[in-house]
Amino acid sequence: MKVLLIGSGGREHALALGLSQDPAVTQLHIAPGNPGMSHLGTLHASDSSNAAILTLAESLHIDLVVIGPELPLVNGVADELREAGIAVFGPSRAAAQLEGSKEFAKQVMNAAGVPTARSFYCTNQSEVATALDTFGAPYVVKHDGLAAGKGVVVTHDREVALAHAALSHTIVIEEYLDGPEVSLFGISDGERIIPMQPAQDFKRAYDNDAGPNTGGMGAYSPLAWAPVDIEATVLRDVLLPTVREMAARGTPFVGLLYAGLALTSQGIKVIEFNARFGDPETEVLIPRLKTPLGALLYRAATGALVEGERLEWSADSAVTVVLAADGYPAAPVTGGAITLPASGEFTIFHAGTKVENGSLVSAGGRVLTVTGMGPTIEAARTSAYAGISEIELAGSHFRRDIALGK
Ligand code: AMP
Ligand code: GLY
Repeated sequence: MKVLLIGSGGREHALALGLSQDPAVTQLHIAPGNPGMSHLGTLHASDSSNAAILTLAESLHIDLVVIGPELPLVNGVADELREAGIAVFGPSRAAAQLEGSKEFAKQVMNAAGVPTARSFYCTNQSEVATALDTFGAPYVVKHDGLAAGKGVVVTHDREVALAHAALSHTIVIEEYLDGPEVSLFGISDGERIIPMQPAQDFKRAYDNDAGPNTGGMGAYSPLAWAPVDIEATVLRDVLLPTVREMAARGTPFVGLLYAGLALTSQGIKVIEFNARFGDPETEVLIPRLKTPLGALLYRAATGALVEGERLEWSADSAVTVVLAADGYPAAPVTGGAITLPASGEFTIFHAGTKVENGSLVSAGGRVLTVTGMGPTIEAARTSAYAGISEIELAGSHFRRDIALGK
């Protein structure tokens, strides 16, 4: 099977590793990829337009396209590939609205009876003010559309909440959900959906959950403290009803349904849906997944998953820590020279790097992600931190408390 993977981040690097380890994958092509992935497959310099992806897939006679990031999905690349008869792991433009519009996701959840925060959809500041006062502090203000991790503000300060709302014309105000957050992904063929094991992401920039929200600063899996039946519960209450609702609307969801959950005192509630693998959760899940990845994603893409099937997992734990550029998340500095350690008991995934004049330099806010594995979270953590401490990049920073005490 010839596979084309689209994307260039840490998530795609981890997916490329998983795909390259599946004997059913005879050729792995990656567009555009990053320098860390060059030994795992053939990299193709390509823009991320639908036309460029379709042309590449056709010229390479690709059997399966795996779309990493959300933007091409929301732009309808999966529709164009399917129309051309190419199997694709990733939802249609219509189904990707589960991530592309927070209000659409709310409507689907409400129709499907999926537990989520109560919310108001607002289109002006007076509606916003009324909604804020209905729920009270802490205030949760979300821009409706894709915002690359900058769309959500959670604050006790009513002025800050109003100011964030003023930056968009379409706003969702939500009730605040307390309790720990869990990311739980399902692999869907449009009718059936198979849960993955849960992971936890660390969203805030600095230690002790201080600082602004980011795309994610680290993650670990499994979660020893989570309810033992969490996968079954989330499958029954969240993933399956959502997939059924999307199918009933004539817009089946084929791909990775990412449920961001809060384990509240009143049970599990959905914070958000995404339409693709999470980053950096993928960097701990894929190294633990024993089920061959290529064949699994191909069966999902072709409607061939089996009801009730279960994935196989390593008993080992995994911890990943993100190395962020100076200034991330507000204004990341790029172009800094990177020195990587010689190999060790850890895996370095490239997230925002490129080669310039023969040297590796930073090219994004999240630059590298270092995953450690071991029989316990503590052992995995030790390996991840051993790796990240040896990386040199001027001004870079990382959290010291990922998976600490877990
Ligand atoms: P989202 O992009 O919707 O996942 O929001 C980003 C982050 O904001 C989440 O991971 C949470 O930490 C926080 N957040 C979003 N919605 C809520 C909510 N209703 N209650 C509490 N925290 C939230
Ligand atoms: N780790 C959060 C995300 O992928 O959206």
